[in-house]
Amino acid sequence: MKIIYLDNAATTPVAPEVMEAMKPFFSERFGNASSLHFLGKQAKEALEKSRGKIMKKVNAKEHKLVFTSGGTESNNLALKGTAFANKDKGKHIITTKIEHDCVLNACKWLEKQGFEVTYLSVDREGFVDLNELEESIRKDTILVSIIHGNNEIGTIQDLKEIGKICQEHEVYFHTDACQSFTKVPIDLKKEHIDLLTINSHKIYGPKGVGGLFIRNGIKIDPLSHGGGHEFGLRSGTENVSGIVGFAKATEVIKDKDIKHMTKLRNMLIKGVLEIEDAWLNGPREKRLCNNTNFSFRYIEGEALMLYLDVKGIAASTGSACSSKSLEPSHVLTAIGLKPEDAHGSLRLTLGKDSTEDEIKYTIEVLKQSVDSLRKISPFGNK
Ligand SMILES: Cc1ncc(COP(=O)(O)O)c(C=O)c1O
Repeated sequence: MKIIYLDNAATTPVAPEVMEAMKPFFSERFGNASSLHFLGKQAKEALEKSRGKIMKKVNAKEHKLVFTSGGTESNNLALKGTAFANKDKGKHIITTKIEHDCVLNACKWLEKQGFEVTYLSVDREGFVDLNELEESIRKDTILVSIIHGNNEIGTIQDLKEIGKICQEHEVYFHTDACQSFTKVPIDLKKEHIDLLTINSHKIYGPKGVGGLFIRNGIKIDPLSHGGGHEFGLRSGTENVSGIVGFAKATEVIKDKDIKHMTKLRNMLIKGVLEIEDAWLNGPREKRLCNNTNFSFRYIEGEALMLYLDVKGIAASTGSACSSKSLEPSHVLTAIGLKPEDAHGSLRLTLGKDSTEDEIKYTIEVLKQSVDSLRKISPFGNK
């Protein structure tokens, strides 16, 4: 059976050129970047070359890039690291109700440590209200953390406007760009971003590698302590092969791939919306080029996902990390969906290698599956 992979927001396959670039660092170039001999120097050179390459991608001239184990660690470092290092300034953090779980759970943990967190609401399409953001900033606000491209509904926030507000009020601005990096241009300088989270496995790089950009001069504490690697902010021997792969992966998605994914995304939306009592969650414009998220009334997204699975189509009902949970998605409820409608949702996320034929087939299978499921639906027969 042919496999149709439409879960690229969960993870992507490692691109062949990325694998090639990594290979020598598992064998002949295996050195520890901290060693002073030639093997160490080789590793250090590869590490710094990779760092420079990734920094260029986001115009990072006033920032350092700290390599981490992924988006989760970068977000934790950004939130907890700035919160504890700036306790003398205040105890207030602002975020949104539609963040990835790693941001939300880090915030909940910070609340237990005595910090106060404001969770901004979003509109029907998932956009933050900039007035509400500005009004929420207090004298003791340390940090604003707002996701760039939403992992569930694809909404792309206006970083420049958010950055401007944060700069005017002298609070740090952090954004989680795991889903948008290399798909949407990011300019740390123009958009006044102080801290930026990225990772590798969403862009055809290896899993377990990520980064946090930190504006020079920002007060931030490390989460773990050790040999002082990565500017003293992330101790532990660097994952040189992974980092080399990460840097190579930043070249994988080209303009033509973004155009291709946008075209297929729009085709998928058009086809699926021919189904009665189905709608698109998230916006039409300012949406990640590879993201679609639909709700189908009267059925369970989970059941629909399993019907697609049998036909070789890999889809998702929520973000990969929370899809085992029985709670309705916090993102879908934040945009105003009733719990039963949030349960009837399906996320299909495209990749650069998705094809028109795959999309046509998926639309057909979806139409049939929704029809079959509604015939046996306890929520009402259609
Ligand atoms: C928006 C967003 N932030 C953070 C993460 C976590 O990244 P990682 O899997 O690299 O820890 C993900 C991945 O699911 C994500 O989509």
